[in-house]
Amino acid sequence: MPTQQVTCPQCHTTVTVTGNVGETVVLICPQCHLKGTATIQGSDATPARTSDGAIVVSNLTKSFNNFIAVKNASFIVRRGEIFGFLGPNGAGKTTTIKAMLDLIHADAGTITINGVDVSIHGKEAKRFVGYLPEKVAFYENLTALQNLMFYAEVKHASQEECSRLISEFGLGDTGKKRVGKFSKGMVQRLGMARALLGSPPILILDEPSGGLDPRGVVLIRDKILEMKKKGTTIFVSSHILSEVQEICDRVAIINRGVIVAQDSVEGLSSKLNLKPLIRVTVDAMSPALEAAVKALPGVHRVTIGGNVLDIICDGAMKAKIILAISTAGGNIQNIQTKEPTLEEVFMRYTEA
Ligand SMILES: Nc1ncnc2c1ncn2[C@@H]1O[C@H](COP(=O)(O)OP(=O)(O)OP(=O)(O)O)[C@@H](O)[C@H]1O
Ligand SMILES: [Mg+2]
Repeated sequence: MPTQQVTCPQCHTTVTVTGNVGETVVLICPQCHLKGTATIQGSDATPARTSDGAIVVSNLTKSFNNFIAVKNASFIVRRGEIFGFLGPNGAGKTTTIKAMLDLIHADAGTITINGVDVSIHGKEAKRFVGYLPEKVAFYENLTALQNLMFYAEVKHASQEECSRLISEFGLGDTGKKRVGKFSKGMVQRLGMARALLGSPPILILDEPSGGLDPRGVVLIRDKILEMKKKGTTIFVSSHILSEVQEICDRVAIINRGVIVAQDSVEGLSSKLNLKPLIRVTVDAMSPALEAAVKALPGVHRVTIGGNVLDIICDGAMKAKIILAISTAGGNIQNIQTKEPTLEEVFMRYTEA
């Protein structure tokens, strides 16, 4: 979606506007709160630059007493992408997210959301964001609907939207049940519903799958993909690496407070020179067959388990492997290729 920079006529602050070409967008200056409109230009529209990232974190450092939880972290979340934020327990994910939302004060660094500096105009910056915290909390004596209605005003959401979200997240039959009586997964679902109130352009989700059953995990994944289709930028921290690999455009990996990598999963795999694995099942293993596969140029490692060969090799080796096995008298029953997984990438970047 095109972005455009507009200068506030009153205080001359530069504001970044996003919209479709020809669309007139209502905007409020984050500095002086002047309300105005801007029409997104066609050929003149500024292409997205790194400085126009939906979320830009630069040199963020945060310590608790003498312990540095996040050290000099920098990354850019581009508009409209799903950005995965990964790291082991205690790596600094939640600390980074809290700093991004100005819920804790950073020691150093700058964070902008939609071009608005969070430490200076926290309230304005947060207007762009739907947030799912790591520990979701609600008013325990109120129902799901009463809770959402409490947040609806500030998010400019209607009662219909609250009811719709409650039903979309599988809580439609909770009726008069108070949230204090909800299970962990039910609270998590309600937390996601709250994050989506008012269709914010940016979602920041800290472990959205926490406490959810498999159906809940799929529901949240589908919702995230649906929001991306609508143009929403999504920043998501998660421990479910297979799912992150499936939905994220790019990921950043944080380890002991330091961002150790950021790229697409494929980009990270190729930087690490990770190879695919070809698993071949034969009807009978023989030393000749094993030797034939090991002798092939481009084969890096062969592990034998019963009638199964696990072959780590360069890409596009399948045909050569099949030929070598048949020439050595082997009879192939099954062959599978497994591309490098995000799990392998994660393990390599977070090794002690
Ligand atoms: N308020 C606090 N006071 C002191 N130390 C803190 C505080 N908050 C976080 N920490 C420490 O900062 C480090 C990073 O914590 P953080 O919650 O950001 O990790 P995380 O990556 O979100 O982990 P998890 O995957 O377990 O949620 C941890 O060592 C934690 O103990
Ligand atoms: Mg956390």
